[in-house]
Amino acid sequence: MSSRVFRAPGRVNLIGEFTDYNDGFVMPAAVDFSTTIAATKRLDRMLGMRSANIGQRREFPLDDRTAHSAGDWSDYVRGVAVMLERLGHRLHGADLEIEGDVPMGAGLSSSASLEVATALALIGISGLSLGLKEIAALCQRAENEFAGSRCGIMDQFISCFGKAGRALLLDCRSLDYRLIPIPAGIRLVISNTMVRHQHATGEYNNRRADCEAGVLHFARIIPHVRALRDVTLADLSRYGDGLPDPVYRRCRHVISENARVERAAQALEQSDLDTLGTLMAESHRSLRDDFEVSCPELDLLVDLALAAPGIRGSRMTGGGFGGCTISLVDEDRVDDFVRQVGERYRNASGITPELYVFGLPSEE
Ligand code: GLA
Repeated sequence: MSSRVFRAPGRVNLIGEFTDYNDGFVMPAAVDFSTTIAATKRLDRMLGMRSANIGQRREFPLDDRTAHSAGDWSDYVRGVAVMLERLGHRLHGADLEIEGDVPMGAGLSSSASLEVATALALIGISGLSLGLKEIAALCQRAENEFAGSRCGIMDQFISCFGKAGRALLLDCRSLDYRLIPIPAGIRLVISNTMVRHQHATGEYNNRRADCEAGVLHFARIIPHVRALRDVTLADLSRYGDGLPDPVYRRCRHVISENARVERAAQALEQSDLDTLGTLMAESHRSLRDDFEVSCPELDLLVDLALAAPGIRGSRMTGGGFGGCTISLVDEDRVDDFVRQVGERYRNASGITPELYVFGLPSEE
C-alpha cells in the first residue's frame, strides 16, 4: 500500500511565557525543524509506529479502551489516537514511520510537533475532516490527559497555524490570532543550553497550581475573574496582600507578561526593536525572579547574548529549567553573534551549545 506524508513544525516563543494556560496572550513562531510522518493504511484496527530517531517500534490496538500512558515517546502518538476515538472519530488502522529534526527535550516543542503530525496523519488516512483549531485542542488534551503534562495550547496551536517568517499573536481565551512578519534584516537565533534539569515537568505542574491558587483568591474578591488574564497589576497591588509569597510572585509574572505580549506585538508590527528588546529583557527577569523557571545556564546564555554583536533582544523561551534562549539579531552580524556566544558559553560552562538561525523574510 502506498504511504502519505504529513509534517508539522516545532516552535520558538518570542514572548508570553506561562500565559497560555492563564487564558492570556502568547507570541510564538514556527521554526524550520519539524516532525515528518509517512503513514500507510492497515486493514486491521492496529496502530503501528516507529521512531527513526529513537530506533523503537510500538504497536497498539485502537479498540483498547483501557489504553494508558507508557511514559515514553509513544504517548504523544497513542494519546492523539485515543483522543480522536474518544471524540467519536473512527480511525483506520495505520503504520506510522516517524522522523524529526526538532531537538528533543530542548523546549522547542518536539512533542507538540509529533502530536500535530500524528493528528494530521490519522485524520488524513482515515478520510476525516477536522478544523485546525479542533486539531490543536485535541492534541493539547492528548498531552494533558494522556501524557500527563498540564500544558496550555500555545505549542499545538503554532504547530498548526505557523507560517514562515511570521510570529503569531494568539489570544489563548478566544483563539483569535494575528500573523506578524518578522522585520526584514532580523534573524531569530535559538541558543540551546544543552541541559534539561530533571524536575522540569513536576515544576511545570506546580507553577500551574500556584496560578490556580491565585485565581481562587482573586475570584473571591472580584466576581468577573475566571483566570489571571482578568486580573490587572492594580488589582494585584490592591488585593494581593493575602497571597502567600510565591503565589503573589507567580501572579505578578503572569499579569505583567500578558501586558508585555500586547506591547511586544505592537512593537514588532512597527519594527520598533528597541521596545521589543526591552520587553524581552523584562520578561526574562520576571521568569527568573518571580516565576522561578530559569536556571544558571539560561541566565548565562542571555547575558552573553546581550553582550554580543548585532543583539536586539534575548530571553529564555519555553518551559524553562534548561532548553533554549531566543535572541533577535541583525542579519549582517549573525555569524559573529553565533561565534562569540558559542565560544563564551563553552568557556564559561564547559558545555558546547548549539545555535540555530531562523527567520528568513516572509514571502510577500
Ligand atoms: C511549555 C508548554 C506551553 C507553555 C510553555 C510556557 O512549552 O507546553 O503550553 O505553557 O511551556 O510558556
